[in-house]
Amino acid sequence: MDKLIISGGGPIDGEIRISGSKNSALPILAATLLSETPMCIGNMPHLNDITTMLALLRSMGLSVTLNEKMSVEIDANTIREYTAPYDLVKTMRASILVLGPMLARYGEANVSFPGGCAIGSRPVDIHLRGLEAMGAEIDVDEGYIRARCKGGLKGAHFFMDTVTVGGTENLLMAAVLAEGKTVLENAAREPEIVDLANCLQAMGAQIEGVGTATLTIHGVKSLKGCRYDVMPDRIETGTYLTAAAATRGRVKLKDTREDILESVLLKLEEAGAFINTGKDWIELDMKGNRPKAVSLKTAPYPAFPTDMQAQFTAMNAVSEGMGTVIETIFENRLIQIHELNRMGANIKLEGNTAIITGVERLKAAPVMATDLRASASLVIAALVADGDTVVDRIYHIDRGYECIEEKMQLLGANIRRVPG
Ligand code: EPZ
Repeated sequence: MDKLIISGGGPIDGEIRISGSKNSALPILAATLLSETPMCIGNMPHLNDITTMLALLRSMGLSVTLNEKMSVEIDANTIREYTAPYDLVKTMRASILVLGPMLARYGEANVSFPGGCAIGSRPVDIHLRGLEAMGAEIDVDEGYIRARCKGGLKGAHFFMDTVTVGGTENLLMAAVLAEGKTVLENAAREPEIVDLANCLQAMGAQIEGVGTATLTIHGVKSLKGCRYDVMPDRIETGTYLTAAAATRGRVKLKDTREDILESVLLKLEEAGAFINTGKDWIELDMKGNRPKAVSLKTAPYPAFPTDMQAQFTAMNAVSEGMGTVIETIFENRLIQIHELNRMGANIKLEGNTAIITGVERLKAAPVMATDLRASASLVIAALVADGDTVVDRIYHIDRGYECIEEKMQLLGANIRRVPG
């Protein structure tokens, strides 16, 4: 297993380009199942999760051609299998996103039941109940969700009792080909859902209320392929901004957007960062100052994202003062604090709240990550630790951060990958 060795030191400083969004690319790749003609998806990040999704589509028989510059052409007409097998689903829960589109277009889908994972139990009951409301018959058999709908899905009025990103995406992709009108209430409003809806509309879907908590979908008979570029990755953007803030440095991030990061930028300003933005760039400068600890609570968009919580916890660990971080989305997502404490952080855990008292510097230690964003927080901590930190199990990082060591090196960090 590869490891990262990071020698902590001075501030990071420089300019890099932000990649396409992982959490937008994954549902958009699943949406290609809905198209009657080939689709071309551009600005795809080069990440292990994307490779897994492409492997899943290929295993079902879709023809997938990857072009140079990470755009991919997909033709769903060659589909042979309506199954997402255990081997692929176990490595990536987002495989569940093929359920809605497969059922809507082919009337049949078998998807291995995704279990819990390091950050929490992560049920998919709302995905299943929404599809049942549209007329699907669903059984769980030998670890597989087996869904059928004879005569096609029918539009329905469905209220989601928890705001769920994946659930909203699955039901939206099902509803675009369901007969009649579907109303999805208490829908998630994450920018990745807006991106998916924009792509579906470019394919011919009729969706009202995009970006709001009520999505009204008028089902159409068929959808056509289009060319679509996925949006920039807001979490990758936020991670590099937070790394710069923690190290008292400066970064300019290109090919990204500030309008999808408001809650994060606000907290960085509260921590003392000077932020400038343009149409497609964001610059953060700490002017050499130590960050001030901030308090935050994660919640669905537009509130503070759970996917940025670990990185802010790491920044708080070396900030001036005390901050509390409350995680409300996933029950086990503060797990990284134990590794941060091994590096000399002063963090107490009370239920779903981390109480962080900033220390001047951390100390290098061998650490390992249990999930993607926890790994990012350990990289940030390592940048502000004295000595060489070895971060183990970095396959988590490779699921969601394109070329992290190259990008960090461009920013002046002393980081290298060693094969395990
Ligand atoms: C998406 O996961 C993201 N993944 C996650 O990104 C992100 O942390 C999460 O949304 C929250 O923003 C992708 O987009 C591929 P949810 P998802 O359904 O869709 C509960 C990363 O690091 N729930 O919005 O799986 C659930 O348990 C990650 O990139 C139900 O109770 O998350 C959780 O408490 C990891 N029943 C809450 O809703 C359901 O049927 C939100 O989960 C579905 C969800």
